[in-house]
Amino acid sequence: MFCTKQYLSLIVLFIICISCSKESKETKLKEPSTIEELGELLFFDSILSRDNKISCASCHKPEFAFADNTPFSFGIDSLKGARNTPSAMNQSARNFHFWDGRSQSLEEQAVGPIENPLEMDIPLSVVVQKLNKHAQYNTFFIKIFGHAADKKSVIDAIASFERTLETNNSAFDCYMNASDTTKFSASAKRGREIFNVKGKCFDCHFGPDFTNDDFRNIGLFNGKDLNDSGRFKITRDPEDIGRFKVSGLRNIALTSPYMHNGMFRTLMDVINYYNTPDDFINNSKNRDSLLAKPLGLTVQDKKDLVAFLVSLTDARFLKSKK
Ligand code: HEC
Ligand code: HEC
Repeated sequence: MFCTKQYLSLIVLFIICISCSKESKETKLKEPSTIEELGELLFFDSILSRDNKISCASCHKPEFAFADNTPFSFGIDSLKGARNTPSAMNQSARNFHFWDGRSQSLEEQAVGPIENPLEMDIPLSVVVQKLNKHAQYNTFFIKIFGHAADKKSVIDAIASFERTLETNNSAFDCYMNASDTTKFSASAKRGREIFNVKGKCFDCHFGPDFTNDDFRNIGLFNGKDLNDSGRFKITRDPEDIGRFKVSGLRNIALTSPYMHNGMFRTLMDVINYYNTPDDFINNSKNRDSLLAKPLGLTVQDKKDLVAFLVSLTDARFLKSKK
């Protein structure tokens, strides 16, 4: 028979063992030296979700320019989202985030998916607790912020990482800054002209990231099967019914499917739509007057336009494909 003392020491040993095994279950993380690197760890870590299964990168996949390759991504408990996952790249210069622009900073934006019941479904305060209980994160936060994780430092870190996701080394950029004009093909050159003039794309998609940061209605709302009213949900202004944020077009060749509802699979599908919207949706509400008439693009025009859009792909993705 064990005496009480022996029993006690056995129990103590047992508890020590459990906590040891918990500690050793933490995968070894690469120690960050900057706030951006800490944010990168968080972005790829499912510790940010209720069931420890979903990370930001589950939907924003690096190989698809931090977008997803499915119309609607799956979040926690395999729940389907209501909108297509856009690229999380080239967000630094945006005044609005999300398809309806409901968030005005990356810090504010990051809280959205963490607490969204269809995405990561966990209060930010609980994420903070989990991080502080995690031996490595606890050390990292103290090293980088000088204190334990709190709500602000968590979202500041994620947003800082996102601000590093800028791309400016595409065939088009190299042509424009004259560093290398060989990669921008003759077809892409013609496509650029069509983008700017005949296709009217430039009227909405202009600026360094090919968006004017405005909200417009390209005709994907009919109040029936297409019933996401977009910007209207935020402003309640009837003028905004069916308006969505004009998408930036950098790395667009990688982020298929397209539009807030992922309804177009290829860039050619998108261009065919813009060319003759009524052939696809003839009962849309409040479609922008720029798209009132068919564009009259020829088969060659469309191919050239695709070539131009493909030329907006950053070199890092071209390399990783090989
Ligand atoms: C379950 C999939 C999913 C997860 C997980 C997820 N996102 Fe998203 N993300 C989306 C969808 C869908 C949208 C668009 C939602 C909308 O506009 O209503 C979006 C939008 C965004 C945007 C705005 C992009 C733009 O063009 O306006 C950013 C930035 C972003 N997410 C970053 C993050 C970060 C950071 C995390 C982790 C904390 C995260 N996302 C987790 C699916 C996801
Ligand atoms: C009236 C303004 C306007 C014009 C003109 C316009 N676009 Fe758009 N574009 C938008 C808006 C708004 C969206 C997002 C719409 C949505 O999801 O409902 C969009 C989305 C896109 C997307 C999908 C982005 C993604 O991440 O899914 C592509 C590609 C695109 N446009 C290319 C073009 C091309 C090519 C042209 C010219 C033929 C063009 N656009 C003309 C406003 C415009």
